[in-house]
Amino acid sequence: MKPTTSPKTYRVKSFGCQMNVYDGERMAEMLAERGITQAPEGEEADLVVLNTCHIREKAAEKVYSDIGRLTKAGRAAGKEPLIAVAGCVAQAEGEEIMARAPAVSMVVGPQAYHRLPEMLDRAVKGERATDTDMPAIAKFAALPERRRVAPAAFLTVQEGCDKFCTYCVVPYTRGAEISRPFADLVEEAKRLVDAGAKEITLLGQNVSAWSGEDEKGHRQGLDGLIRRLATISDLRRIRYTTSHPADMDEGLIAAHGEVDKLMPFLHLPVQSGSDRVLKAMNRSHTADSYLKLLDRFRAARPDIALSGDFIVGFPGETEAEFEETLALVDTVGYAQAFSFKYSPRPGTPAATMADQIPPEAMDERLQRLQSALNRDQLAFNRASEGRTCQVLVERKGKLPGQWLGKSPWLQSVWFAREDGGDCAIGDLVEVTLGEAGPNSLAGTLREDVEA
Ligand code: SAH
Ligand code: SF4
Ligand code: F3S
Repeated sequence: MKPTTSPKTYRVKSFGCQMNVYDGERMAEMLAERGITQAPEGEEADLVVLNTCHIREKAAEKVYSDIGRLTKAGRAAGKEPLIAVAGCVAQAEGEEIMARAPAVSMVVGPQAYHRLPEMLDRAVKGERATDTDMPAIAKFAALPERRRVAPAAFLTVQEGCDKFCTYCVVPYTRGAEISRPFADLVEEAKRLVDAGAKEITLLGQNVSAWSGEDEKGHRQGLDGLIRRLATISDLRRIRYTTSHPADMDEGLIAAHGEVDKLMPFLHLPVQSGSDRVLKAMNRSHTADSYLKLLDRFRAARPDIALSGDFIVGFPGETEAEFEETLALVDTVGYAQAFSFKYSPRPGTPAATMADQIPPEAMDERLQRLQSALNRDQLAFNRASEGRTCQVLVERKGKLPGQWLGKSPWLQSVWFAREDGGDCAIGDLVEVTLGEAGPNSLAGTLREDVEA
């Protein structure tokens, strides 16, 4: 590659899960620390970081087409950007990317991106570099402090996964489960709050497996961490995601009934309602054990909103087994959920299993599942009509006087003051929920909540 001038502007494009969003924000902060500014909307950046996801098919193809588009746009504008590929595709296919895409000068895995600035120095000199080491938690120590954050912020507390569900690439792209230390997390949470966060979502591929030692040397699980964070007085709300049914313990369930700042929401993927399929997926729970677990959460926090993930068309899934998934959905009544067609991932055991399901059958099942989930989501939102709850003001709406925020149950709420006046982003306000749609509710602001 030819040497080039140091970049003045950057753009980070994050795909995939919230952990990638967190990583993308951290990479942006590192670049800002070096005096590189975010490229204005609609303008080409001098440096583009593609922070990729490998969870389902076409991820790699998408990266190559993005690279092609960027190079073309750069040529038209007279300067090709420096391109870094980060995230889980970088981890899984770093070498292929380097070989296939000469326009890419940096490939950096999810556990190595704290080295991005050094790689950038080399890229400016015309050298290409790949770093897909997995030095566990070295990156967190190396990241700069945060200056200003949105009212609803993310905090990665746990990374990696040891569960090895047979369809999933995460254990390979993110490595083994590690928990960040208790004291570091309390410290980072305080800094986030000082930087403007009112709500923190604790992130982990397997967040309920978090464990660590508190200040007194006592072993704590996620509930202990949550209880400690709840003592940060300007922190108003705590959420966590994503959990695996195998790691939900009594302490965490109890915390939902006892910690006011812990929001009444649980994202607990189930994937399938068929015990045969769950076993083939290596999920270590049954449909029934999952339902019993939800009952315990409901007993601790009766208004808890439930969310899940589903895969349709896992190899060998019969129509009857798929109907067991529909039956489970009917039983739970989810407030929201994500559902996907099974996608064979290279290197995972399920990719070579017999009886791969034809695409048409997957399409048809996904449609049926999604119509059931949409029905329940609308029903959940309708059941909230007339309720008065706290909403965290996250941004301005499109219409004058309109604001957008989230209810405790993670519903998007559009609202206005009765007098048409202003709100401040980051305020918690009391809103009466009005007309419900499938994805959001309208509301009317009652009053600002005392801090
Ligand atoms: N650690 C989390 C999130 C994993 S990825 C968890 O265990 O829930 C998010 C979701 O993507 C999964 O819950 C699953 O529903 C879906 N997913 C993962 N691999 C997939 C694959 N190969 N094909 C289709 N969906 C997949
Ligand atoms: Fe993937 Fe399963 Fe781990 Fe979730 S628990 S990240 S689905 S292997
Ligand atoms: Fe995707 Fe990696 Fe997250 S594969 S879902 S970005 S952990």
